[in-house]
Amino acid sequence: MSGKRPCNPSGTSVRTDGVETPIAYRVLEALGGRRTAYVRVPDIADALSCKHDDVRGAIGAIRRLGYSISERSGAGIRLDTETDVIVRSDLLGRLGTRALGRPPVCFLELDSTNALATRAALAGASHGTVVLAEHQKAGRGRLGRTWFSPPGAGLWFSLILRYELTVARTWMLTLGAAVALADAVEALTGVHPDVRWPNDLYLNDRKLAGILTEVRGGGDRLDFAVLGIGINVNQEEADFPAGLRDTATSIRCGTGRTYDRTGLLADVLRSLEHVYAGLDAESIRGRWAGKTRMLGNPVFIDTDAGPVRGVAEDVGSDGALLVRGADGGLRRVLAGDVGGDAKV
Ligand code: BTN
Repeated sequence: MSGKRPCNPSGTSVRTDGVETPIAYRVLEALGGRRTAYVRVPDIADALSCKHDDVRGAIGAIRRLGYSISERSGAGIRLDTETDVIVRSDLLGRLGTRALGRPPVCFLELDSTNALATRAALAGASHGTVVLAEHQKAGRGRLGRTWFSPPGAGLWFSLILRYELTVARTWMLTLGAAVALADAVEALTGVHPDVRWPNDLYLNDRKLAGILTEVRGGGDRLDFAVLGIGINVNQEEADFPAGLRDTATSIRCGTGRTYDRTGLLADVLRSLEHVYAGLDAESIRGRWAGKTRMLGNPVFIDTDAGPVRGVAEDVGSDGALLVRGADGGLRRVLAGDVGGDAKV
């Protein structure tokens, strides 16, 4: 059709100045924003300045993710009214941040939002850009693990951060993110997640959210960090695969109700910007210490240099966990997997 610019149906293109939300997601938004009304495919195509075939392709992709779209001859198509869609204009209207979450770039499906955000940052995407996917096929966790990211049930997103910071101080971003997440979840739901070093949020001794910070930079200078956050929001217990059912939880499992993901995402981004203001290591350390039950309790940490057992005493000025061993010595743990005894 003349006058219509080519669309990017598969939608993993990264422009030289960043990333753009592909047509498949924009069709989901178009349907999500008019939940009760049927809308005709040509009208969506006109509104999005793309071809009917692209809209048809997007509808197929949305259905393949498991979303229910009904069709009525003459009237058009409609998304199931229960579907919780994150609409970017709605998010922007509720954001209230200066930089974080601007722009939001949304995908139906990606391997990993961290991977895409890294490519976008390398291509020049600006500080604050947030990359979000309804579904991640290969969500990355720490220590080479995968992160279960089913369509529409949680928040799977990555923020590009270009703060003036040395690489050695990027621990502040991870610990600060844990604090910001806990603050946002507490304010919205009234439950108090337990923050665990270095990057976890737990609720009722099960993992609620995880943070994966990946950095690029040389020497003393951080080029950019990609802060990846996964929050289990609206899953029921049965929605987790058998291998996670005893160890993972969601806000819904912990509170008995579902939450609008757009509101939570806006709250988290605002909370992050607040915690990062000034990037003050002492303030982040202090706030983190106030949200964890680890300090003063026994921990077991699997590190590259072998297991570390003892009582977690503090977090050092370099973000290391300070663990007092049975011999009275203090060990600084910079990276590792907290296990066993840490379930305090
Ligand atoms: C962990 O606890 O192991 C960290 C999990 C981090 C998961 C998030 S989901 C969004 C972002 N993209 C990824 O591939 N991983 C992070």
